Amino acid sequence: MKNYLLNFDDKLLRTVREVGRQAAKKKYAAYIVGGIVRDIILKRKNYDLDIVVEGDAIRLARDLAKKWGVKVTVYKKFGTASLETSKGLRVDLATARRESYAHPGALPVVRPGSLKEDLLRRDLTVNAMAIAIGPEGFGRLTDEYGGLADLSKKAVRVLHKNSFIDDPTRILRAVRFEQRFSFKMERQTLLLMKAALRKGAPSNVKPPRYFTEFKKILCEEDPLNCLKRLHQLDGLCFLDPKLEVRIGDVCLLHKRIQKARKKSLYAQKDWWPVYFMGLLAKADDRVVKRVLERFPLTKNERRGIEQSRQSIDMVRSLSARSLRASQVFRILRPLTAEAVLYLRVVTSKVMVSQRIDRFLDRDIEVKLRINGDDLKAVGVASDRRMGRVLENILHLKIDKKVGTKQEELKAVLLSLKEF
Ligand code: CTP
Repeated sequence: MKNYLLNFDDKLLRTVREVGRQAAKKKYAAYIVGGIVRDIILKRKNYDLDIVVEGDAIRLARDLAKKWGVKVTVYKKFGTASLETSKGLRVDLATARRESYAHPGALPVVRPGSLKEDLLRRDLTVNAMAIAIGPEGFGRLTDEYGGLADLSKKAVRVLHKNSFIDDPTRILRAVRFEQRFSFKMERQTLLLMKAALRKGAPSNVKPPRYFTEFKKILCEEDPLNCLKRLHQLDGLCFLDPKLEVRIGDVCLLHKRIQKARKKSLYAQKDWWPVYFMGLLAKADDRVVKRVLERFPLTKNERRGIEQSRQSIDMVRSLSARSLRASQVFRILRPLTAEAVLYLRVVTSKVMVSQRIDRFLDRDIEVKLRINGDDLKAVGVASDRRMGRVLENILHLKIDKKVGTKQEELKAVLLSLKEF
């Protein structure tokens, strides 16, 4: 029997052994399942420990939490629990379950079941394998549905013909994994997907669920190939039936994002909202309004998307031949961080890019040295004008017209005379 955990990460290994041992004490069989199994076989890093037990996962999680002296979060309704080890490793435990769908796209009704049933309810064969972590058979693979063969064939395949109808978010997942691993959609799976799309299956899913999976696509290392594939399958219109995406524009945006990410200033930024802005860039106002209403975006994300729609005007303002750093600051500061990123990558003008780089690299961080006490000390009472005066001094500082605290104070006194 091959031990699939032979080269497993040390930290994970210790944890899963302990979970397996503790489960065995209760006579439960325990397995790691899903994405982490797929990634072990593909030799890819993955720290998402999803554990399924044939037994009571909540009781097991409570025992482990006590043993490790950590907190446990229990989701009784789903028979699942999460805990974090003292080393910061998140462990999700679930009782093996079977699922049924009251209607297409509904949240599944779950009942306890066997491991085999638990694997059968999953999206794709490559995500439907398990590895035993109990002392007996530690490292043994359970592969009921041909996941291993599909991994070696690089095939994306659903487990049964109703899969995309039961859960249309699997369309997004199948595309995501196909593109992430450069796999190929198996023929029958592709036909089932196209049929589900033709029948409008995604409209049966609640927008927040749909969006959660869509966002995962935008967060992929390389979202462009997924977006192209979805576009080719007519799968993007499910963001909104009237949304027309110009994929050429998205390609250009992607190219510019990739280029910007090579700079350390942009390497760690969150780019998914920028892709989303790009998808909505040419859309009709009514479409954007509907999208903003339907999907669970934060207030800030909504604001950023609205701002991104003014990008042409803003790029125009930022292109003026002579523009002081403080004027750039005034244009950019009211924008959300993501709207600034969007501007940075939609513009083809080097001067505008440089101005945005300088704003993000330096000017956004500029702070005055003086505070309320300093002002009091020179007899300046804080009144309504003060906000404007200080803003003024900040602009001077950005333009390097003042530097020291003394210069700032002097500039305050001068400004007060003017106001
Ligand atoms: N799963 C599923 N159907 C879904 C969502 C999840 O069958 N709609 C199952 C799959 O077995 C999947 C596992 O739950 O592998 C974990 O889901 P998730 O964390 O979303 O996916 P991963 O496969 O771990 O993907 P990633 O590598 O992107 O984290």
